[in-house]
Amino acid sequence: MALNGLLDIDLAVKNPQELCDFWSRNGLNSSTAGVLGTDERKKQITVVEDDYRHLDALHLSCEFESDLAAIAQRIGEMGVESKISGTNLSCVDPIFGHRISIDVGVAPSLQQNPERVFNSPGRNQRVGTRAEALLETAPRRPRRLGHVVLATPHFEKATAFYVDGIGFRVSDQVLNGIATFMRCESDHHNFFIHPGFTSHLNHYALEVDDVDAIGKLGMAVLAERPDANVVGIGRHNLGANIFWYLTDPSGNMFEFFSDMDQITDDEAWERDFCKRDWEGADGPAGFSVWGPKEPESFINQPDLFEIAAAREARGLI
Ligand SMILES: [Fe+2]
Repeated sequence: MALNGLLDIDLAVKNPQELCDFWSRNGLNSSTAGVLGTDERKKQITVVEDDYRHLDALHLSCEFESDLAAIAQRIGEMGVESKISGTNLSCVDPIFGHRISIDVGVAPSLQQNPERVFNSPGRNQRVGTRAEALLETAPRRPRRLGHVVLATPHFEKATAFYVDGIGFRVSDQVLNGIATFMRCESDHHNFFIHPGFTSHLNHYALEVDDVDAIGKLGMAVLAERPDANVVGIGRHNLGANIFWYLTDPSGNMFEFFSDMDQITDDEAWERDFCKRDWEGADGPAGFSVWGPKEPESFINQPDLFEIAAAREARGLI
């Protein structure tokens, strides 16, 4: 009985067409107007118009109808109303203000790609042919939306809502326990909440096949948006994913990632409630194992005052 998937998100931006066009050029499909998807998951991001960028909806899945009733009861005890209609529960996030929709079901499974052949000392497997990364005429495309990261000054309340109410499972915590990695699938994190100056979307993340796919996709973005680089490329400590963070034309940070830790036995996983700041860098709570160490540009996004003003005008906390 549990949440079992991050299905898709709605993303509000000032210029939806610009964002859809960007992703159409950079690896997502946009066959339906405003809906971005991958080859196997047709709907991953629905782009809607608003006067500031924000997460507009979070769409999850769970195993059973009884999960919906349990979630409704738990968030109800926190003072959050919800509506169950058939096999769907809907409510409004009490901190960020986005809609939450939970369906009984499961996301389409992903095909396993033919494994790439790598050479290493004493283990030469690719002989007499060039690496696939050279032979491919285009970057491998993103496979799925993997996680979403939000920041808020009300991180304690927000984390309690998603863990104790909605039912995300905690994987690790950093920054003296105030930033929380959560999962609803086997991925180390499908959701992460950390402290922030105002409540906002930190980034959305697209999973790709491997490090070559990250590099080639990221370089394609830089070719058309030379100022898009934020942080990367590197390998995170917590989650262990190889990352590259860039910005889209709407000012959102996004991540191409691969090779994230997977957790299938909740009991066996040892959480790291690390007490160190992640600027501590070399410990398990460090931002990266290798690659950029400082997350300053990751956290302090340039439009936070604009977002704070827009939220205040709407009476959002
Ligand atoms: Fe991420």
